Amino acid sequence: MPSRLTPRAAARSASSGRSETGTSETPAFPAMPDFSARLIAWQRRHGRHDLPWQNTRDPYRIWLSEIMLQQTQVSTVIPYYARFLARFPDVAALAAAPSDDVMALWAGLGYYTRARNLHRCAQVVVEQHGGAFPASVEQLAELPGIGRSTAAAIASFAFGARATILDGNVKRVLARVFGVEGFPGEKKVENAMWTLAESLLPPNASDDEVSSYTQGLMDLGATLCVRGKPDCPRCPFAADCVANVAGRQRELPTSRPKKLVPTRRTWMLVLRDGNAVMLEKRPPSGIWGGLWSLPEAADEAALAERARAFGGDGAVSPLAPLTHVFTHFKLDIEPRLAELDRGVGALAALGDADTAWVALSDLDSVGVPAPVRKLLDSLQGSLI
Ligand code: ADE
Repeated sequence: MPSRLTPRAAARSASSGRSETGTSETPAFPAMPDFSARLIAWQRRHGRHDLPWQNTRDPYRIWLSEIMLQQTQVSTVIPYYARFLARFPDVAALAAAPSDDVMALWAGLGYYTRARNLHRCAQVVVEQHGGAFPASVEQLAELPGIGRSTAAAIASFAFGARATILDGNVKRVLARVFGVEGFPGEKKVENAMWTLAESLLPPNASDDEVSSYTQGLMDLGATLCVRGKPDCPRCPFAADCVANVAGRQRELPTSRPKKLVPTRRTWMLVLRDGNAVMLEKRPPSGIWGGLWSLPEAADEAALAERARAFGGDGAVSPLAPLTHVFTHFKLDIEPRLAELDRGVGALAALGDADTAWVALSDLDSVGVPAPVRKLLDSLQGSLI
């Protein structure tokens, strides 16, 4: 590579010719040869132009904004960005700062790993790159806290590199416009999207065109092609967008597949004497820790045994089963009814410190898990 090339030109040269239209393993998407030209034209007329990190080629300022914007909205970032730059005007100032100062200025932005990586990255840039951010996507992506998409954003904004971003917003835009099926968090789908995104880059673009293109992808995803209610009539791709044409905006991008959760099964004893039911206090940890629930067993025979221990004759009859969904598993509940006829006065003796007879009309006074409460409420209805 000629040493005369400016970093910006070098970045462009290194990444040119990398545009692909897909491989035999990736699905074919509708061709749209003027995608980049239309996006650039739209961005210049309708995109955002006055954000505090625009209208600069300073990689430090661009890098700082991209890290802050990774999981945070523009409006939240703006005041933090201003304070950060006032206190740390360049990468050397940030690298030299005590980490407590960096963390204090970050406090409130969340995702604190970003702040730790930001500080480390500044130190690496100073120590290993002489205080100048490298210009290539590959080298940028080796720095702490900089992934492939963030590296492309910095390289394109600061150095005019012909590199594509692919964050969540861009995935949504591509999924809709080109009808990319499948959850974009899945590796295969994501790889196909990277290939598609690279194929769409503007050919032979100037620095300004590269900037407008990258910003256009961001602006379209943030202002029109939003998740909830996309503003399709104002979109430059409305006529060709697979999702818009087919009315599939809500289906694309494909949602994260529902996790398959394991199912557990438990038998619950509804031991009733007239209007009272026996409740058992659950152990302090685990599901429903410390709440009052129904006595349980691992199968019907064991449950009948428990009913006998509480003074029943061992006969249990089935009630309607129910299912309760926790975050990590589903609980199938098999309720069984056993009836006593002792009268409430005699009941106190039938239990221990972890059990209590509670009137069905008194359930508000003890903490009962929601599905158990539902079960008992239906029972109360049947008693009247
Ligand atoms: N989100 C990520 N990068 C951004 C940028 N440069 N401008 C606006 N929103 C962004």
